[in-house]
Amino acid sequence: MQLPDYKEARKRNKEVVEKEYYSIDDSIINIGLNKKYYVKTYGCQMNEHDTENIKAMLEQLNFTEALDQEDADVVILNTCSIRENAHNKAFGMLGRLKHLKEEKNKDLIIGVCGCMAQEEKVVEEIMKKYKYVNFVFGTHNLHHLPYILNEALKTKKQVIEVFSKEGNITEDIPVKRANRYKAFVNIMYGCDKFCTYCIVPYTRGKQRSRDKDDIIKEVNKLVKDGYQEVTLLGQNVNAYGKDFNNDYNMENLLEDVAKTGIPRVRFMTSHPWDFTDGMIEVIKKYPNIMPSIHLPVQSGSSKVLKLMGRRYTKEDYIKLFDKIKTIPNVTVSTDIIVGFPSEEEEDFEETLELVNYCKFDNAYTFIFSPRKGTPAEKLEDKSTLKEKEDRLHRLNEIVNKYFLESNQKMLGKVVDVLVDGPSEKEGLLCGYTDTNKLINFEGDSSLIGKIVKVEVTDAKTWSLDGKAK
Ligand code: SAH
Ligand code: SF4
Ligand code: F3S
Repeated sequence: MQLPDYKEARKRNKEVVEKEYYSIDDSIINIGLNKKYYVKTYGCQMNEHDTENIKAMLEQLNFTEALDQEDADVVILNTCSIRENAHNKAFGMLGRLKHLKEEKNKDLIIGVCGCMAQEEKVVEEIMKKYKYVNFVFGTHNLHHLPYILNEALKTKKQVIEVFSKEGNITEDIPVKRANRYKAFVNIMYGCDKFCTYCIVPYTRGKQRSRDKDDIIKEVNKLVKDGYQEVTLLGQNVNAYGKDFNNDYNMENLLEDVAKTGIPRVRFMTSHPWDFTDGMIEVIKKYPNIMPSIHLPVQSGSSKVLKLMGRRYTKEDYIKLFDKIKTIPNVTVSTDIIVGFPSEEEEDFEETLELVNYCKFDNAYTFIFSPRKGTPAEKLEDKSTLKEKEDRLHRLNEIVNKYFLESNQKMLGKVVDVLVDGPSEKEGLLCGYTDTNKLINFEGDSSLIGKIVKVEVTDAKTWSLDGKAK
């Protein structure tokens, strides 16, 4: 048994990160024969991509994918710790799985992984109150899943293996991609920014950049397999390469990925701190780097930003924003937290001012959620829940107004759309524009997986309507 340890997770050392290669022993290759698995994902794109790895590892063990938990022999919850409601959702699901196990399928095997598995308190709780959970593994030992599962199946005991110290980078973990045309590629793991509200540096460990040759090899394979889009993933992608002993950085990587010829390159998430002028030039130079930047601001008050540990002021953000806006046709989206402990009404009003200046094309807005073990958890809270809810509501009204305005500017234009498949609206197709706007449109199903021209005929707050040209 190996349990999570926050003291260990907080450490950052200068040890060199080694590269390992994934492999599994032939002796366990058949443990999934005639068995089905179901994985539920709660977190960000990185978490979704981990699920793609988990599914492929299970299929190597000869499991097949079940339709839902009722139909499965093994259920794995790939969890997220970012806010309290992500926690509650996963624990709620564990409650439902308990009933399923007691009433319908006593042999059901239940596993928990992802960011919650890296939290000391969560694992303690699982050991005490959720004894029916068969195994727990963390984000640093995802590639051990075949062995952990094998042990859980054989011993029938609760198996817990969570490493708090990030290990090496493991290459060649198999992947079952959720989409045939769009792919996620990790370029770095972990985060060293330690924003005071955020749990990610504890659950994902220190920043480790992947070798550029491994990244380019993966993208080249995607090109060969007919993929149209790659999203380069990391918590803080602009800091790519800062942990190397050479000068190769995000600017160089973006350029090399663009040169593979993949039709669309996206990257996320960008921290304003490491966004360089050179990156802006590379984005301008390569038409296959999409003009859509996610640039979380978090707050418009320099006082709050300082307490958040974001390392930039409101003015720094606006300066960078203005530079990014020189990229032709670019859209900028953001993340905003309201009700941070020290936020007062004047601070919140500064956030509204910033939003009124930037007129974001999209924004994800959240109420601050205290996370155990982070510095912000201990700050004195200056607003009540009601005030926080009221701020979120006021903020949403304004950001929504700008989403609609941004969409209305597209009316009558002809845009490039990568067609995902049938829309939720019957008889229509859907896809995303180069600027990352969702569009539903009339067109033939033969267009799926292609980049096509679509004329925008209507604009709503959350999506566009159109017609294939
Ligand atoms: N690495 C990314 C963000 C990852 S988390 C970045 O730095 O931009 C995604 C978003 O969740 C964050 O941008 C932030 O807005 C929000 N978030 C993170 N921790 C939070 C917390 N404790 N409470 C509320 N929102 C939080
Ligand atoms: Fe969290 Fe900040 Fe790292 Fe983003 S940059 S993952 S918000 S600590
Ligand atoms: Fe959640 Fe972990 Fe991602 S906390 S947002 S799944 S890195």
